[in-house]
Amino acid sequence: MGVSSKLVNMPKAMDKTVKICVKLDGSLSENFESIMGVKQGVLKMSIFQFRCFGVVRILDGCSRQLHHGRRHLCSQNRQNKLLKHLQARIQANGPLTVAEYMKEVLTNPVMGYYMHRDVFGEKGDFITSPEISQMFGELIGVWVVNEWLQCGSPPDLKVVELGPGRGTLSADMLRVFTNFPQMKGVVSLHLVEVSPKMASMQESKLTGKTSSDTSHEPDSENPGSFYKQCRTETGIPVAWYTHLADVPRGFSSFIAHEFFDALPIHRFRRTERGWCEVLVDIDENNNKDSLRFVLSRGSTLATTSYLKHLKETESRKEVEVCPEGGVLVQELSTRIQEDGGFALIADYGHSGEKTDTLRGFREHQLHDVLSEPGSADLTADVDFSYLDCIARNSNRVSTFGPITQNVFLHYMGIQLRMKVLFQKAEEKARKDLISSYDMLTNPEKMGDRFKFFAIMQTKQPNYKPAGFTPPT
Ligand SMILES: C[S@@+](CC[C@H](N)C(=O)[O-])C[C@H]1O[C@@H](n2cnc3c(N)ncnc32)[C@H](O)[C@@H]1O
Repeated sequence: MGVSSKLVNMPKAMDKTVKICVKLDGSLSENFESIMGVKQGVLKMSIFQFRCFGVVRILDGCSRQLHHGRRHLCSQNRQNKLLKHLQARIQANGPLTVAEYMKEVLTNPVMGYYMHRDVFGEKGDFITSPEISQMFGELIGVWVVNEWLQCGSPPDLKVVELGPGRGTLSADMLRVFTNFPQMKGVVSLHLVEVSPKMASMQESKLTGKTSSDTSHEPDSENPGSFYKQCRTETGIPVAWYTHLADVPRGFSSFIAHEFFDALPIHRFRRTERGWCEVLVDIDENNNKDSLRFVLSRGSTLATTSYLKHLKETESRKEVEVCPEGGVLVQELSTRIQEDGGFALIADYGHSGEKTDTLRGFREHQLHDVLSEPGSADLTADVDFSYLDCIARNSNRVSTFGPITQNVFLHYMGIQLRMKVLFQKAEEKARKDLISSYDMLTNPEKMGDRFKFFAIMQTKQPNYKPAGFTPPT
């Protein structure tokens, strides 16, 4: 029997939930402050641009060019090799699907974009919410605590982060947990990360030590196991996995921030011949040295398999589908249903109305998706209606959202958190706090484009998780 069946309708858990909701609401500010009163560091927002806009860039031109030159030389070799590799694949088997192209560009073990460098921040290509302010990860940490209490505080909570980047979100969540004595000895952290470089950055962030960069090879005698493990500074066990399927089963909180947008998508176009697939081919008109998009002559394996969720009334001429995202949501839903737990997916996305969202980012600027593959991030908006459809169809789980980041963070009490930090901050840190709050919540910045979506084990009929309903 899964933990789940024991956890529904527990009055004690409800008591705890009420308390923490009061904290979120701010009226128990004393406790709230002790939960949140920690580190002050925020990033200077003026010099960053983030991926969903990727236009303006304010930095000293000279240093920028020098940096660009060095970086360019270092990675050029790898990119040339990747382009040659892609061309060889196309010559051998014909044009690649956009999903195959995206997968190679982002996560090819030798030459993939994410595999060998720090891609975040001023010297990287984009900035994400956890890197903008500690408030983001802390509020997600509070969300996890609240939902765990709501489930009756099971004695073993696996916090599973998918695509943890620099490890900042996990570190901020764990710090929040230390303020809840009832969580002592309960939490273990499980990181699903394909990049050895990112994994060692996460290890350094969580342990405070330079990464030992242990082998990235899975244990051949136990292929479903972690590829590295350690303990955080406060003694919480951490393990790394290449795939979600490798993470041990049990009551879990799954967190995915800006992860689903990095998963490979297929692109389809409606034509007189029916749905055709957009493919990547060698550009014969350009010394065969570059790539171009072409359209399949007719249906492909993907057009017949991946468009079944579309309604008859579908009017878009172009559609993107992320089957890997669908498979992951199915796996998350099955685990939540059978083992208990909940998932929070945050990303920029839409509810099935957008077309043609695939784009590249390099040094905080938009970058041609097919040019110099491996030198820029590739990303596509998440279709939450597709994920919702898969979660609901495949399992007895409930889904919530998508709602905007602005609404989620306000319902979770960002203004109160901001007030606490502000009171403790020096002049300069206060300015940073105000600008990072604005960046995260302003509907014209990240506030509206980023969405939050939750999957929960089905509870009482009117149950809504924190952050998806105004605090009472
Ligand atoms: C855009 S970053 C987001 C990082 C972090 N969540 C944040 O918000 O700062 C994407 C992360 O997912 C990882 N990643 C990308 N594709 C992956 C895959 N197929 N499997 C596992 N990790 C992946 C990358 O290495 C990186 O850590």
